[in-house]
Parts: sequence; structure tokens; C-alpha cells
Amino acid sequence: TRSIRPLVAGNWKMNGVKADLAIAAEAAKGYDAALKAAVDLAICPPATMLYPMTAALIGSRIATGGQDCSTQAAGAFTGEIAAAMLADAGASFAIVGHSERRTLHGETNATVKAKAQAAQTALLVPIICVGETRDEREAGKALAVVKKQLRGSIPEGATAATLVVAYEPVWAIGTGLTPTAADVAEMHEAIRADLSRLLGKAAAAGVRLLYGGSVKPSNAVELMNVAHVDGALVGGASLKAEDFLAIVRACA
Ligand code: G3P
Repeated sequence: TRSIRPLVAGNWKMNGVKADLAIAAEAAKGYDAALKAAVDLAICPPATMLYPMTAALIGSRIATGGQDCSTQAAGAFTGEIAAAMLADAGASFAIVGHSERRTLHGETNATVKAKAQAAQTALLVPIICVGETRDEREAGKALAVVKKQLRGSIPEGATAATLVVAYEPVWAIGTGLTPTAADVAEMHEAIRADLSRLLGKAAAAGVRLLYGGSVKPSNAVELMNVAHVDGALVGGASLKAEDFLAIVRACA
């Protein structure tokens, strides 16, 4: 039995047009009373789909989220989307600091922290992503790297209700590779301990720690039953309602 209500969030990344609302509708159909009683669900589509998806999911109890947000509230920032705009479009969450943003868009811990703060100001719950590269793991530095990311990117004063953390080892994203259950257990326990130091024990005890990186129906039961794993951040498999629901069932 879990002490924390788990969350499964789908990160659609740069995939999805109007026709793909059917995927969300199918997920909603399969999110039955038993699953609703046990697991929270969210889908983070491209920003262009937030409003129609949130509208399509009314009554389903599936939340939506953005995949990024600006550090700024409004103004002359061409191409950026403010957290308040995501909220206005119906979002409840915002992924921040995904490794693809950190790597491809040069986001530092300070940027990620500012984005998380901007999300919180807009009353969105940031899903802050952390995770080591393959080289860092092979050099035995995974725990230290993640610890540094946590210290640099978690806003002070965050609580269990205002923060979700996702551990996504970079080398496991989209590769079909996953860490062993023992490695996930070690990392999630370390993250919980770091959060205790950063936020205090009571707040840290309730923060949802998601695992992300090649979560699939075939490995979900094992990964979701690791101690301190309170759900999943799912990329590729979230684009198939059937696979997404199988992962949700693994958390129930
Ligand atoms: O944010 C989720 C993601 O990075 C994991 O992607 O495709 O390996 O499940 P995937």
C-alpha cells in the first residue's frame, strides 16, 4: 500500500495535433472508477493543444499540463509562453527542466528554478525533471549530479502540494534502456533525503517522485513498485492510450 497517491503524467513532447484528442478520449474512457480511486492522471500535450484537450477532458478527472513555461510573466518575449497562459488554457501542471530543454535549449538549474517559481506563482504544479547522463552514471557521479540539480532547481518553500519531482536518467529517455530497480531505489531514496534537507521532513515526505525514461507496460509493474516511486512521467508510451493505461494500472 502506498502512502502517497501516485501520479502518472504523459509527456507528449512535440507530438500531437487535433486529431490526437482521440488518444486522450480513449485514455479517459479507460480511466475507470477503480483507477480514479487510486491514481492521478495528467497529459502534457504541446501548448497548442492544451485548451482543446482540457475542454475534451472535462469530467474525466484527467488533468493537463504544459511542457515548459517562461521565467517571465508577460511582455516582449517572442515565442515564449507564460505559466499564467498555460493555466488560462486549462493546465494544472508544467513540466520544467526536462533534459531535452536542459540540453537542447541550454537551461541551467537557475533557469529551471525560475521557471518552477513562475509556475507556482500561476498556481501550476511544476514537475521538475532531474537526471544524470550515461557518462555521469558510468563515472559513479549519478547521485552527486542529481543532488546538485535538486539544490539548484527546487524553489524554496515548496510543499507536497506545490511540487512534483521526476527522476529521468538521460540515457534512459527514448532508448528502451532503464536503470535496475535497485538503482532507481537508491536514487529515489537519495532524492527524498535531499528534499528533506531542502524543504523539511514533513513537506518532503509527501512530494511525489516520478520515475521517467522508457516506462512501458512491460516494465511498469517492476518500476512502479520500487520504494519512493510515486508514479511515472511517460514519453513515447503515453501516445498510445492502451499502453498509457497499462502503466496507470501498474500504479494502482
Ligand atoms: O518526460 C518523459 C520522457 O522524457 C521519457 O520518454 O519516451 O523514454 O518514455 P520515454
